[in-house]
Amino acid sequence: MVTLTETMIRTEGLWKEYDGKPILRDINIEIAKGSMVLIEGRSGTGKTTLLNILGCMDTSTRGHLWIDGKEVTKMGHKRLSKLRLHNIGFIFQEHNLIGNLTVEENIILPMKIAKHQKGHARLEELLEAFDIVDIRDKKPAKISGGEAQRAAISRALANEPDILLADEPTASLDLDNAGVVLGAFKKANEIYGSTVVVTSHDSFVKSYFSIRHTISEGKLSSEWS
Ligand SMILES: Nc1ncnc2c1ncn2[C@@H]1O[C@H](COP(=O)(O)OP(=O)(O)O)[C@@H](O)[C@H]1O
Ligand SMILES: [Mg+2]
Repeated sequence: MVTLTETMIRTEGLWKEYDGKPILRDINIEIAKGSMVLIEGRSGTGKTTLLNILGCMDTSTRGHLWIDGKEVTKMGHKRLSKLRLHNIGFIFQEHNLIGNLTVEENIILPMKIAKHQKGHARLEELLEAFDIVDIRDKKPAKISGGEAQRAAISRALANEPDILLADEPTASLDLDNAGVVLGAFKKANEIYGSTVVVTSHDSFVKSYFSIRHTISEGKLSSEWS
């Protein structure tokens, strides 16, 4: 049987320069729908820069980016913010939950902004899936780093995005919590079919991913296992 894989994210000849100095040099990446991939590299190699461009939060100096077949590099502001709100969920190293809202309120917020029709059912489903029912009424300062990242994953998934992008989501966690959070990404990938892209400079993270891209000196090299 032949399995046809469709592409969710694709770049062609992507460059990023700061003050004339190239950080990303000719990045050509293809990420299949429903896949889970790692972008690794030492600190300062351009992981955040690349992820921000893939997540439409930053623009490249030149080159092309397609998300689900649509060329992002040609989109105006309105279409871009719509794409970010509905199609892409972003998770940061520090969870970035809003401090004076509870876990539950943090997850509801993006659904309110997007006028999600089944917000409450979706909230319950996410709290269950990521095992954070018990902490739903707590503020971010009162929960652990691993719980906060699971809440951040739930929030990122609130509007049913196709893509989940996470920038060093385990960097401030101990090994146990990092494992739990990586398991949560796997779950998002398996039960929601999200295309997951994670960056990391920790070598232990490698074992969780079968598709890995390494950035070094602005170039990407890829490996599969
Ligand atoms: N806004 C910016 N202005 C100038 N240089 C930047 C900017 N953002 C990042 N850089 C530089 O680009 C390089 C890559 O940064 P970054 O993408 O944050 O790397 P990583 O996430 O792999 O640690 C670094 O040398 C950094 O100093
Ligand atoms: Mg970074």
